[in-house]
Amino acid sequence: MEKIIIALDGHAGCGKSTTAKAVAKELDYIFIDTGAMYRAVTYYFLSNNVDFSDAVEVENALKEISLKFVLNPSSGIGEIHINGENVEPFIRNMEITSRVSDVASIKAVRVFNVAEQQKMGKEKGIVMDGRDIGTVVFPNAELKIFMTADVTVRAKRRLVEMESKGVETSLEDVESDIRNRDHLDSTRKESPLKKADDAVVVDTSGLTINQQVESILKLAKNII
Ligand code: C5P
Repeated sequence: MEKIIIALDGHAGCGKSTTAKAVAKELDYIFIDTGAMYRAVTYYFLSNNVDFSDAVEVENALKEISLKFVLNPSSGIGEIHINGENVEPFIRNMEITSRVSDVASIKAVRVFNVAEQQKMGKEKGIVMDGRDIGTVVFPNAELKIFMTADVTVRAKRRLVEMESKGVETSLEDVESDIRNRDHLDSTRKESPLKKADDAVVVDTSGLTINQQVESILKLAKNII
């Protein structure tokens, strides 16, 4: 069976990663959460006091970074490691979440991550979720999805997810973070978040995760 690339872009908190993970499992594809890569770089910069506004400091820091997804055999999920350290437990908190869009707007950071992502997709058979996968990373992806949902619905879902992971926050903070990140991600100069011309829009406001997964699998199976 032909292996394809599924590019899943869209707004913050609309269930992209959860959906992409399930679609990848169903197709026996590799799932790559590119947001985790931007979060891991942000974690490294903050932990090492890298001044984001200094291009030389950023370039030097990127030279020190090696990113890798390592499969956790008990969850079956690839966890992001930076220089051999599993940083997955540290990258989803509000501190990283509120700074990641600033780091992701830096051209050198994008060039670094996009090169890694393109290597990961060389053999196809991947579901990659992010903001610029269908527009920049894999503009020739066989299937492009653009996911969106009502912002309050997204905030409520994200709050439940964060609470289940023991992250303390409020609905107001989650909603304002989502609005802020969408704004920064859509208006930045480098690879802004936008729908690829040939992407299929999936509005998940009224859909369950199962319905989201099914709708994408249906589109994929029409191609494979
Ligand atoms: O997907 P997630 O919400 O974890 O992504 C965190 C942030 O990383 C986004 O808000 C965006 O600023 C950045 N990002 C990006 N390009 C990607 C994936 C994520 O700019 N391909």
